[in-house]
Amino acid sequence: MTSPQALRGTSDLLPGDLARWDAVERTTRAMARRYGYQEIRTPVIEDAALFLRSVGETTNIVQKEMFSFQDRGERTIVLRPEGTAAVVRAYLEHNLHKTQGFAKLFYLGPMFRAERPQAGRFRQFHQFGVEAIGSSSPWLDAEVIALGVEMLKCCGASDLTLLLSSMGCRSDQAASAKQLRTRLAPHRAKLCKDCQSRFDKNIFRVLDCKNPACHQLAWDIKGSPFILCADCRRHFDDVRRALRAVGIAFDDTAVFARGLDYYTRTVFEIRARALGAKDAVAAGGRYDHLIEELGGPPLGAIGFAAGIERLLMAAADGAAAGEAAQRTGVYVAVADPALLGRVFPIVQRLRGRGVAASLDYEGRSLKAQLREADRLRCRSVAILGEQELTDRTVTVKDLEQGSQRTLALDQFVETA
Ligand code: HAM
Repeated sequence: MTSPQALRGTSDLLPGDLARWDAVERTTRAMARRYGYQEIRTPVIEDAALFLRSVGETTNIVQKEMFSFQDRGERTIVLRPEGTAAVVRAYLEHNLHKTQGFAKLFYLGPMFRAERPQAGRFRQFHQFGVEAIGSSSPWLDAEVIALGVEMLKCCGASDLTLLLSSMGCRSDQAASAKQLRTRLAPHRAKLCKDCQSRFDKNIFRVLDCKNPACHQLAWDIKGSPFILCADCRRHFDDVRRALRAVGIAFDDTAVFARGLDYYTRTVFEIRARALGAKDAVAAGGRYDHLIEELGGPPLGAIGFAAGIERLLMAAADGAAAGEAAQRTGVYVAVADPALLGRVFPIVQRLRGRGVAASLDYEGRSLKAQLREADRLRCRSVAILGEQELTDRTVTVKDLEQGSQRTLALDQFVETA
């Protein structure tokens, strides 16, 4: 009989993997708080209409990549493909625009997209994201981008490139779309079926089409395909000036497109050499109309999300890996299983004091217990035999330094 397997594009995170995940989660949370962001958690299921209205009906995410099902009330429910729309929904649903106004929120959690699984692309993946809602200031753009770059570095990612661009406001986008349509009209027949059908509705999708022919045609254009009005140009200049002022290097010459419809003005991607030129570790931008489009007041907003799996790939040899290698806790090795009745309460006392403590119930040899302590990456082994228990002493082996000493048992429990 064959054993069941995890679905394609999903993975189990085993204890050996989770030390690095834990380190990244702690680092990203701490960084977000340092910049004044508060955590928000939203459900993994949402009404499909939320993403149709925000990410956009003609995007790949909505047209092809959402996992959806009908519930008993015939509503179409989806596993969330991204976090921004859900955070904005929650912000409005709980009236944060009235009680708080400006809100800086962060989230960590699983997202789902039915993409073709490949390196760095999964069907269930995890994002750390931030959304700052209620301001159009270019300083906020700089803050969000700085947080993205610093957070990735703090997690150990290296060789990063920040690509920065502006897509302009909605009227700029109408002008840019018109220009792009005119440029691509002679090549319309060479575009893929999807791009042909999206030609009139949403020409920008040609820019992020995964079909290499469309991609080539769209990018054979010199310079940015986005036309900027004077206000948007000023905003973009201010963002660049603010980033320079804090020493954040960027490339504003490379043209790239974001595959979600809600963006206006500043957009950015952070790429890592370890992942190649194709996939971003983190990406985001402004979405100054989304709050209004979802029924709220006109409020500027900006955010980004980083894929944790991709971040771990980009930080393979970095700080996050180093932290995972640290040893913690005590392994209490028992010379004879008959002593468990006296040793078990000692282990519980250690745990009660907040010390991670493990022990063996299977009567393994002392040597095997030492091996197990090493495998579990315990910092020390406390060896207890008949003699030690009678004398109320313990032999403690420090696995980090390789030293060994004998201590009074109570002193050990109180200070471990
Ligand atoms: P996104 O570019 O679709 O933007 O995704 C952001 C990041 O999530 C990517 O750069 C990547 O690291 C990760 N990611 C996306 N899809 C996958 C996948 N299939 N497998 C593994 N990782 C993936 C958004 O989701 C926007 N909500 C970002 C944002 C926040 N914009 C404004 N605020």
